[in-house]
Amino acid sequence: MPFVVTDSCIQCKYTDCVSVCPMDCFVEGPNFLAIDPDGCIDCSMCVPECPVGAIYNATDLPAALSHFEDLNARLAKLPGWKPITKAQPPLPDHAQWKDVTDKLPLLKMPEP
Ligand code: SF4
Ligand code: F3S
Repeated sequence: MPFVVTDSCIQCKYTDCVSVCPMDCFVEGPNFLAIDPDGCIDCSMCVPECPVGAIYNATDLPAALSHFEDLNARLAKLPGWKPITKAQPPLPDHAQWKDVTDKLPLLKMPEP
């Protein structure tokens, strides 16, 4: 089962995860990253890199986060969600958002 980025990433986007992925399967939106399930080889290397614990194996997703599996797969194929392979600074307000839950309504889509 592929790995999945979940709620904690939204509005934070620390990006430490991307630098260890051997398959370059992260894609980037304005305030969230997603994993392309077609690229993920389930190595789990990204999991400990995320400072807010946003990444899960799909089989271990808590029920409250189960919708993120389909969301990652969908976003990874949408135009505007671009591959990201190098870490970059987190979003400016990451400290304010890192412990906030249920941030999905804040998810932003790339400009067309
Ligand atoms: Fe990349 Fe491995 Fe994480 Fe999948 S589990 S996204 S292949 S680092
Ligand atoms: Fe998001 Fe964590 Fe990666 S916050 S960008 S999943 S390091």
